[in-house]
Amino acid sequence: MTDTKKSIHGEWSSRFAFILAATGSAVGLGNIWKFPYIAGENGGGAFVIVYLLCVVLIGIPIMMAETLLGRRSRQNPINTMKALAEEAGADKNWHYLGWMGVIAGFLILSYYSVIAGWASAYVFKDFTGSFFDADASEIKGLFDSFIASPVQLIFWHSLFMLATMVVVARGVNSGIEKAVRFLMPSLFVMLVLLVAYAMTTGSYDEGIEFLFMPDFSKLTGDSVLTAMGHAFFTLSLGMGAIMIYGSYLPKDVSISKTVFLIAGTDTVVALLAGIAIFPIVFASGQEPSAGPGLIFQTLPIAFGSMTGGWLFGLLFFVMLVFAALSSSISLIEPAVAWLVENKDMNRKQACIWSGSVTWLLGFGTIFSFNVWSEFKVFDRTIFQLLDYLTANLMLPIGGFCIAVFAGWIMTQQHTEQELNMPSPRNYQAWKILICYVAPAAVFLVFLNVIGVL
Ligand code: PFF
Repeated sequence: MTDTKKSIHGEWSSRFAFILAATGSAVGLGNIWKFPYIAGENGGGAFVIVYLLCVVLIGIPIMMAETLLGRRSRQNPINTMKALAEEAGADKNWHYLGWMGVIAGFLILSYYSVIAGWASAYVFKDFTGSFFDADASEIKGLFDSFIASPVQLIFWHSLFMLATMVVVARGVNSGIEKAVRFLMPSLFVMLVLLVAYAMTTGSYDEGIEFLFMPDFSKLTGDSVLTAMGHAFFTLSLGMGAIMIYGSYLPKDVSISKTVFLIAGTDTVVALLAGIAIFPIVFASGQEPSAGPGLIFQTLPIAFGSMTGGWLFGLLFFVMLVFAALSSSISLIEPAVAWLVENKDMNRKQACIWSGSVTWLLGFGTIFSFNVWSEFKVFDRTIFQLLDYLTANLMLPIGGFCIAVFAGWIMTQQHTEQELNMPSPRNYQAWKILICYVAPAAVFLVFLNVIGVL
């Protein structure tokens, strides 16, 4: 690989643009919708600690590895794995890792878009005053009747998929980069305001205790797997999203500093979301284990009762939709880049193809909340199955293989050159994490789940 190599899709205009785009990919529904409800389902504090440990010991080193792989080859994840395996004189089957990532991206986006559709619908509901003075049971009723309607869910899912396709079709610089530039900072401000509201609910302490006081007796093997899977999901790791964004990264940017910033921001956003949501859950007498509807059944209570809540709610859900959009574009980008590079399509055609497939797949998730809610495989609805398969299995397996590849297959000279860390001690620390700690941790969690440990 030469130093002057560039991606045919273009390059980020600056380090800041990459930070925004990668943070945009990382910060999304995972932080604001998923983290609170899975923390709630898995007992709170102890789960949060395992998740934080996974971010530091597994997530950050793998994020650095994914970025360096992408930047070194400057192609889509499938071609990247092929080219780098060739460069290292390794088996060419490594490119199947790229394929698994592309498939995981399709599967995740198929349900991600449905939930982002919920958020879009809630912009509209807030706008039309549906939450005004509504109590907890009315808000719950509103949510239940909404997800019971396939037509409404299809409408909002379609709208969101269309938006994703339009942004991605416009390309790296004018589409993705422009979109995330103003979205991320605004979302952050909104969350801080919501935390301030949560402090006034009277159940603030209870919420904080739930989120941060560990009770390890509540931790099962499966919840450890969920916490680890979530570390991958929330940082967009294990499927090539960060790899493809790395392929648009200018040569002189420090990967390690940038990755720390992105992972740090992502974690702070998730914790802020938890700090905002749980006090409202307890203050309104609800269960933290309410599942995927949690934020849709709690936050509108706050918006319905606080002064200025109408405007505030509107802004919040708009931001949530944008946060989801800046993630969804990264879920589909690896497939789009592959179609452009390997199948001679232009970006527009590639977006139409991959967007349509995902859109169709999304129907499985939509129906799992209503007409097919009784249809279960391994005791899980289609949505639950897709979530488990991707976040708990495919992303950690993908991440494990990326760690093995960067740590054991690539030469030290190449990884060192790409990471270009100022201190050799820092490089050694990364090397230990990527060669031993991260793969061993993923492996042990899997052994634990299948009952060997
Ligand atoms: N990180 C995103 C979130 O937390 O919402 C979801 C995601 C995006 C997962 C991109 C995986 C991915 F490749």
